[in-house]
Amino acid sequence: TGLNAKFIAHGKKFFASAADQNTINIAANQALLKSDFGGVTPENSMKWDATEPSRGSFNFAGADFLVNWAVSNGKLVRGHTFVWHNQLPSWVSQITDKNTLEPKLSAKKQTSVVQNHISTVAGRYKGKVYYSEDSLTSGMFAMKSSTKTVVSNPTPSLTFLDRQNFVNIAFTAARAADPNAKLYINDFNLDSNNAKVQGMVRLVNSVNSAGKLIDGIGTQTHLNAGGAGGVQAALTALAATGCEIAITELDIAGASANDYTTVVKACLNTPSCVSITTWGVADVNSWRASSTPLLFDNNYKPKAAYTAVINAM
Ligand code: XIL
Repeated sequence: TGLNAKFIAHGKKFFASAADQNTINIAANQALLKSDFGGVTPENSMKWDATEPSRGSFNFAGADFLVNWAVSNGKLVRGHTFVWHNQLPSWVSQITDKNTLEPKLSAKKQTSVVQNHISTVAGRYKGKVYYSEDSLTSGMFAMKSSTKTVVSNPTPSLTFLDRQNFVNIAFTAARAADPNAKLYINDFNLDSNNAKVQGMVRLVNSVNSAGKLIDGIGTQTHLNAGGAGGVQAALTALAATGCEIAITELDIAGASANDYTTVVKACLNTPSCVSITTWGVADVNSWRASSTPLLFDNNYKPKAAYTAVINAM
């Protein structure tokens, strides 16, 4: 019984939730994490602004709490996230002038900033984090006009040679620091077989053609009501890379039973889809609380979608 037990009975890896100290410390929430979920992703505590608030100076208080709780409660950890464009410390955001795109650090120094960040965080949790993520959304890269991007409206912070070079630097550093962690690239709006999915497939195939650096692709799956119809096609397209696939941040506005079962069945039907993570347990603590997108309500009671998902498994 419980989401995770039913899910792994299908040969899947885990059904997980986002968590951090603030939500683990709520007794009703922690009880559900224990009963229904097989893993946790740090909702905020492993992001760059939390872990390296000033250059070269690290703070692991929040991430340590999450990882220690997971280890002592037998839950797997998905790391999140080494690099992405949001929740950067100001010293990183300011490396490049947003208007002139003039960098304050050379490409070589920017490379070592990324390498040092990733190897320090990955090294600290070596062997404790089952999956680690680099999020690839816009912004960590200067887009040369020749660079094919999968996302528009970049807000560059680090100016790099190009996206693929950046991905290589990041994944190489992560692989060296924690060779047994599965390394994922993770992004949003991969919810149908759209242009962004196809761009992701091209990027992953291109990076991996020189040797498998990217083990998996994460699709965040933050959906609007009625938005689940394209998920199966997206998973199938992503799986064609030969990578593992994970649904990493699932929440659906309105949380209709139909939308949730559509997503869960799509993962069950996709052999390389190994896990589902919902972006929180109960609506009351969701980053999208007003759209009530999760499987448990404001009183930590299971919603209709919870029962439907259990029955679909
Ligand atoms: C969100 C958290 O849930 C919020 O608490 C925080 O204020 C902002 O970030 N995509 C991601 C997640 O990769 O890290 C984001 O999490 C949600 C969107």
